Amino acid sequence: MQVMLLGLPGAGKGTQAQRIAAEFAVPHISTGDMFRAAIAADTPLGREVKPYLDSGRLVPDELTIRVIRERLQQPDTRAGFLLDGFPRTLPQAEALDAMLAEIGRPLNCVLYIRVPREVLLARLTGRRICRQCGAVYHMVFQPPVTPGRCDRCGGELYQRSDDTEEAVATRLAQYAATEPLVEHYSRQGVLYTIDGNRTVDEVWHDIRNILHDVR
Ligand code: AP5
Ligand code: ZN
Repeated sequence: MQVMLLGLPGAGKGTQAQRIAAEFAVPHISTGDMFRAAIAADTPLGREVKPYLDSGRLVPDELTIRVIRERLQQPDTRAGFLLDGFPRTLPQAEALDAMLAEIGRPLNCVLYIRVPREVLLARLTGRRICRQCGAVYHMVFQPPVTPGRCDRCGGELYQRSDDTEEAVATRLAQYAATEPLVEHYSRQGVLYTIDGNRTVDEVWHDIRNILHDVR
């Protein structure tokens, strides 16, 4: 099963991706997570992408496509994968189409999670993430039992450097580049639009049903 999550920053892609990966046993491939890991490890890739992530601008297509091409060559993707945050420009989508055509495994399903823009700022500025296991929380919408600590592993919760009001504004503006993808995947007949302005469980319920059907 080849699945892709599409949606504005804060739409809930990462939150739903963790559930999808667990239920359907597919590797969760997030370009944002890969870039943040490279920055944390201070690799040459990390040093190159850091200014983009910190300010909320998109990393250049060429670099992002190269990272995904290498990732999709790993053996754990042979039985399927879940893409989160890639592609997000038309050139990236076209490059992905070509890569998947080469291996004869097109996307089965693109889940487009729609949330009104005015909801996103509050979601992003209130987000906290576990440093140890990556679980995603929200100070108001999904608070941990013990403030500042992860329910699952007790790890420390932190705020992403691009979840400031300024970087969020840049990220939401950059997303115009992604609009054409809705049309692109609609034409391919693989687009499923989901109302993301509901509880995490309600959104998950819909996604789960769709994925059990397309599987
Ligand atoms: P990336 O890491 O992909 O970030 P993003 O697209 O901005 O998406 P987010 O992770 O912010 O949001 P999400 O939809 O996953 O929301 P979440 O589930 O966490 O990219 C970061 C940067 O990397 C980019 O700015 C760019 O620089 C670079 N990059 C990455 N990919 C790239 C690419 N392909 N090309 C170029 N550059 C690229 O939820 C958000 C919050 O809301 C959480 O607190 C959560 O608890 C809460 N929440 C979730 N669902 C609900 C709900 N239903 N109700 C209430 N609260 C909810
Ligand atoms: Zn944790």
